[in-house]
Amino acid sequence: MVQSKSIVLLLSLLAFVPFCMSHKIKGGGGGYLYPQFYDKSCPKAQEIVKSVVAKAVSRDPRMAASLLRLHFHDCFVKGCDASILLDNAGNIISEKGSNPNRNSARGFEVIDEIKSALEQVCPQTVSCADVMALSARDSTVIAGGPSWVVPLGRRDARGASLSGSNQNIPAPNNTFQTIFTKFNLKGLDIVDLVALSGSHTIGFSRCTSFKQRLYNQTGNGKPDFTLDQSYAAQLRSRCPKSGGDQNLFTLDYVSPFKFDNSYFKNLLAFKGLLNSDEVLVTKNQESLQLVKQYAQNNQLFFQQFAKSMVKMGNISPLTGFRGEIRKNCRMINS
Ligand code: HEM
Repeated sequence: MVQSKSIVLLLSLLAFVPFCMSHKIKGGGGGYLYPQFYDKSCPKAQEIVKSVVAKAVSRDPRMAASLLRLHFHDCFVKGCDASILLDNAGNIISEKGSNPNRNSARGFEVIDEIKSALEQVCPQTVSCADVMALSARDSTVIAGGPSWVVPLGRRDARGASLSGSNQNIPAPNNTFQTIFTKFNLKGLDIVDLVALSGSHTIGFSRCTSFKQRLYNQTGNGKPDFTLDQSYAAQLRSRCPKSGGDQNLFTLDYVSPFKFDNSYFKNLLAFKGLLNSDEVLVTKNQESLQLVKQYAQNNQLFFQQFAKSMVKMGNISPLTGFRGEIRKNCRMINS
């Protein structure tokens, strides 16, 4: 009798567990991500990240875009585990040398600066993966975009994956279907894809990332006719058929440093810079409808962007005893 009573009690307690955990995100390793993770162990953590990011963006306004992208390129490879920050060493082949990152990913020194400020106040407490998630949020806010509460408690990987970086991160000349599949494999849907692509409202691209569209879109020596032709002509003047590969172009020619919905307005005018931007309006009805909604309603874009960033930031985190808290974001602890 006593035994059956305690079983009933246990079962009813267990029934409440999902409610208690509903604001927490389960990570691999049995732990959870939650916003208050450092409240006791490093109460100044968020303030420190924010102030270093603000300083870095005031030195170099493009840095907001670069830090936002860094988090994306980290999360799509083995989850948000700071694997992208590791330099070549021993068995580690750095993701910094992958096709999407080489001569392109930037902001590593800012992450170092944040990490060393954190190490002074709370040594080996705040993970590099969390530093990236927080800096992506702070960068968005500084550029005029929405804010969100960042679930925390990610731990840092003890390895990198060059092949994962090459394969999982969408390329600008991938088809709509390929890009969509790469997002799906990370648990992200078409709404996330369109909203997160809205990141291209800030920052820059090199000529090499969209040159194909200007001269030889399908291999027959013809440009991409879905691109507005006067915009294309402007682009050609600084992105010639040969040379100029590293020349920089704004992803959103209207307001390159302001986080707003002009990216979506540009897409509807066929002035999206990358082929991967343009396919959102030319290859799929559902994504076209979403682009129209975000172009019309900035608030709606901001709300969805914030939700999708939290979702992206929750991709397979290392928690509990998995991974480690690196002392230096560029190398694993010895
Ligand atoms: C949908 C698939 C995506 C593709 C194919 C793509 C591709 C690219 C490419 C080719 C560049 C220019 C890189 C260069 O030429 O150096 C770029 C820049 C950028 N991307 Fe994406 N991207 C995608 C999604 C995202 C997402 C999901 C985010 C963030 C959540 C993001 C954030 C950025 C930012 C902020 C920049 C500018 C970075 C800077 O100025 O340093 N992108 N992207």
